[in-house]
Amino acid sequence: MSHSDPQTATHAKSEGSFLTVNDLTKVYQEGDIPRTVLNGLDFVMAEGELVVLLGRSGSGKSTFLNLISGMDTATSGDVTFSGINLTAITEQERTIFRRENIGLIFQSFNLISTLTVLENILLPLELNGRLNETQKNAAIDFLEEVGLADRKDSYPDRLSGGEQQRVAIARALAHDPLLILADEPTGNLDYKTAEAVMGILQQLIHDAGRTMLIATHDRDIIALADRVVSLQGGVLIELSPEEASAR
Ligand SMILES: Nc1ncnc2c1ncn2[C@@H]1O[C@H](COP(=O)(O)OP(=O)(O)O)[C@@H](O)[C@H]1O
Ligand SMILES: [Mg+2]
Repeated sequence: MSHSDPQTATHAKSEGSFLTVNDLTKVYQEGDIPRTVLNGLDFVMAEGELVVLLGRSGSGKSTFLNLISGMDTATSGDVTFSGINLTAITEQERTIFRRENIGLIFQSFNLISTLTVLENILLPLELNGRLNETQKNAAIDFLEEVGLADRKDSYPDRLSGGEQQRVAIARALAHDPLLILADEPTGNLDYKTAEAVMGILQQLIHDAGRTMLIATHDRDIIALADRVVSLQGGVLIELSPEEASAR
């Protein structure tokens, strides 16, 4: 396969292993001092799995998720997603790949303040050149599912944190991505709001059999997970269900 062909390089195929991370290392340079955050990390994930990523603050969870989404590049090692080696393609190809195949949910929502709720959800479809009436109706359906159909013309700063995150969830799912990456999606929400947001996420992801890797300490999500891994010392440790529920 030629990696110089953006069509070939960015359209993920469904056969083969879904996600394979091999010997991944990330070293940040702070002035003269190198800081190794990921240190030869290996990881595989199958289609349809819900995997929870644990690890104390600063252990490298966000770094790891950013390398899988292709938002950042590794110091060494490979991330292969449906047969495409993300470390071997250009930044532009990675951007196209991410838009088409990955749905991202961040701790800080990351909605675009100058776009309405509906426009935020439609943007990834528009960028992918897939915005038509059917897709638009599907996006409105998603807004209904997250309980915000009546806010479609509001701007994000008019919404509460929980509402903004529900919009971000709809945005992450509207283009039907192969993989959803969520980075502590309730980290900025109070307990009650977090509970409601997690309930929606649970319903949209787990019940629909979508594939998700989520950094969270939410007990309900851990209870639903197919696997729980913990980032410690720059590598991933697989936890048994008993160990995971004791955390
Ligand atoms: N751009 C950066 N430059 C230097 N150090 C960074 C950078 N981003 C993250 N780090 C450091 O890498 C470590 C892991 O960070 P992060 O991946 O954000 O951890 P987590 O998401 O688990 O809290 C932390 O020590 C953090 O300070
Ligand atoms: Mg983080």
